Amino acid sequence: MRHLANLKDLSGEDIQDILAKAAEIKQNPGDFRTLLAHESLAMIFQKTSTRTRISFEVAMTELGGHSIYIDWATSNFVLSGIEYETEYLSRNVSSIMARLLHHSDLEKIIAGSQVPVINGCCERYHPCQALTDILTMQEHHDGDIRDARLTYVGVQNNVSNSLCLICDKLGIQLTLATPEPDDNGESQDADVREIIRTSANVNHTTDVQAAAQDTDFIYTDTWIDMQYFINPDSADEKAAVMKRMLPYQINRDLLEGSDCRIMHDMPIHDDYEITAEMVRDPRSIIFPQAANRLHAQKGLLWWIYQEAGNL
Ligand code: CP
Repeated sequence: MRHLANLKDLSGEDIQDILAKAAEIKQNPGDFRTLLAHESLAMIFQKTSTRTRISFEVAMTELGGHSIYIDWATSNFVLSGIEYETEYLSRNVSSIMARLLHHSDLEKIIAGSQVPVINGCCERYHPCQALTDILTMQEHHDGDIRDARLTYVGVQNNVSNSLCLICDKLGIQLTLATPEPDDNGESQDADVREIIRTSANVNHTTDVQAAAQDTDFIYTDTWIDMQYFINPDSADEKAAVMKRMLPYQINRDLLEGSDCRIMHDMPIHDDYEITAEMVRDPRSIIFPQAANRLHAQKGLLWWIYQEAGNL
């Protein structure tokens, strides 16, 4: 049974298959209207979401299947063991997607499930986002994607971890332009640290100015995890992060003279990690990138269900 926990178990060929199918379905949606007829995806959310929820829900609808939104807080996941609730769920649906605070909970869901499980983002990984990002880069790059240079600017987190994993597997040149990663908090992952240390495809620099000039794609993400962003108790931390991270902001000065494409996985925090001007800059592909969540999910769902023998 295939799961998508963090991309570590997938080969480069698996990822290429998902991306190729995503592009094919995007090109010819009419050919796939009944691909997932009578299939049901349960979508469990412990955290807020716009894109992950909408893209999976619309993907299931457009492929002929059905999705069910489950708010963790108002379901009986809050009352009982994850393994019991998951086993029940997996006897009534044919796949599960979960957005969770802790990867350890995803591991419990995988252990308790009789059907495939997809990680819809946790504190350490965001594999669905990484698939979308490479799909988007392929659409905006002439020639072999392995010749493309991607620079991730900001804070090392779940998004940059998944970019490290996918770029290492696909042979795409990724530079992390971030402060020295002596503490990237709850997102720390030993395998990702090893990739940054040893991979020929992934490297780290603190010289954000040079990195921004020597890249085809520049990418940023929130400096503060989303569940803390709107918390009034985090105001002091936000101010401190802003001061420390300002040199890493994507703004007009940083991209002066560069023709690189601008990426952001959204939600955006204007004038923190990126200025509003750069979001709307002609070099920005942020909205096509976000819209591609839908198409990447379709390729992923095909890959999951194909192996399960449902197609
Ligand atoms: N990028 C992303 O996962 O968006 P949401 O948090 O809105 O799902």
